[in-house]
Amino acid sequence: MAGTALKSCALFTALFIAALAVVAALYWPAIQRTSELWFPTRVAKNLDQCTYLDKNLFGCEDIVVHGKYAYLACADQQARTGFWPPLGFLDKSTDTTMKDQVLVYDFEEQTLTPLVVRGYNGDFSLHGLSVIDHHVKKNKVTLHLVNHKRSGSCIDIFDHRVGTNELLYGETVCDPLIRSPDAIIPVSRNSFYITNYLSIGPNVTKMDIVLDMALARPTSDLVFRTEDGQIKMVRNGIKGANGLALTANKDQLWMTESLSGELWIFDIQADGSLRESEKRITLSFFPDNVHMVPETGAMVVSGPGGMLNAARADGYQFRYQPDANPPSSKPTSSKTSSKPAAAASKKKDALPLGPGVPSVVAIVTNATSHYDQFYGQKYVPREVFVDPKGNYLFAASVAAVHWPSQTVLLGGPMMKGVVKCPWPAGAEKAPVAGGKKAPAAGDKNKL
Ligand SMILES: *[C@@H]1O[C@H](CO)[C@@H](O)[C@H](O)[C@H]1NC(C)=O
Ligand SMILES: *[C@@H]1O[C@H](CO)[C@@H](O)[C@H](O)[C@H]1NC(C)=O
Repeated sequence: MAGTALKSCALFTALFIAALAVVAALYWPAIQRTSELWFPTRVAKNLDQCTYLDKNLFGCEDIVVHGKYAYLACADQQARTGFWPPLGFLDKSTDTTMKDQVLVYDFEEQTLTPLVVRGYNGDFSLHGLSVIDHHVKKNKVTLHLVNHKRSGSCIDIFDHRVGTNELLYGETVCDPLIRSPDAIIPVSRNSFYITNYLSIGPNVTKMDIVLDMALARPTSDLVFRTEDGQIKMVRNGIKGANGLALTANKDQLWMTESLSGELWIFDIQADGSLRESEKRITLSFFPDNVHMVPETGAMVVSGPGGMLNAARADGYQFRYQPDANPPSSKPTSSKTSSKPAAAASKKKDALPLGPGVPSVVAIVTNATSHYDQFYGQKYVPREVFVDPKGNYLFAASVAAVHWPSQTVLLGGPMMKGVVKCPWPAGAEKAPVAGGKKAPAAGDKNKL
């Protein structure tokens, strides 16, 4: 097992170098861009006041704020690292039956409640989730959950009466076009968009996934389900289609393309088809989930800040919380060690502890500077949180902001614990952020 993983790791590295050489042959700016995405060179930012919301949670890949609540889709560690296709864990002998869980956090009462599932008893292997008001009942919400069942990935729809601890099963939507759902964003209970991540499908191999990643292959797509249940492909040829968000009036769909580090903006047409209307927004990291802050309309996007470490982490024991405290932004003389701890255990099967995976959270707001407006730049991304080593925030995939309390919850598919941070006052307005690693923001503003 470990040997295979190590071999695929070595192959990944070889392919990565090959991919770099190909890019080098093309042109220099692409090399700079690629190196920026793959090799992390950052400093810690705004994490000093962060604490664990709950240290025992694992793999909360998606978190959505709705009203005064956050809904968290979290994993069972053994199930997640056994069978979870998006990360290439394809062992179908792993039992995933009702292992993952949805929890609700109340920002006012500061209570965290796991929800008990009623009316469903199959594989429960979660990924993206979304929360909307119930179409009829006041005081109820509807949750759409991406569920990677061993029999194939589907969307499961549940209802929840706000304030209770129950999740009531409604229906399951499976379709050949719902191939490897990652994020889901509903227009209504029946109608939604989903991203299909990479070339994952019923017969995917680990090598397919490695090649998709290393060569940034355009194997992802975006599908739409109409109100009457028809499912159509609305866009294909995407390099790692990942997070989705709707604007407040639901006329635009925002999507992250992970392997290019870009945010795409589509105008939604009457029939659900999409027209790309705006310039793509270039980010300095691999964007994963994107969520809108309803109070301001800003988009918050989170993701790994350097994928080389993620590739290197394959075949090692993932770094679960080696740092109990957040990295400080203040320079210190006595640096805390981030070297992989010498052999976590002498047990024969134990894998060595792998590297951390850096995390970045950025906010995208309307451009207000004359420079940006002159050059037709409608939006500006700014880095708000950075964990440069990723030993505290391990490859964060989501940042869910509760604006009234200025609080953000951070999670990731392989992260142990959920981290809670105060939103740094005015961070979204800072004129220059992220130093020279925020190409679309800081540098231009300085001119
Ligand atoms: C997967 O493999 C099975 C068995 O070889 C085959 O019947 C099926 O059509 C394949 N599915 C896809 C989507 O390629
Ligand atoms: C930009 O401003 C408009 C109008 O005020 C608002 O609706 C929208 O949400 C804003 N977008 C972002 C990304 O901040």
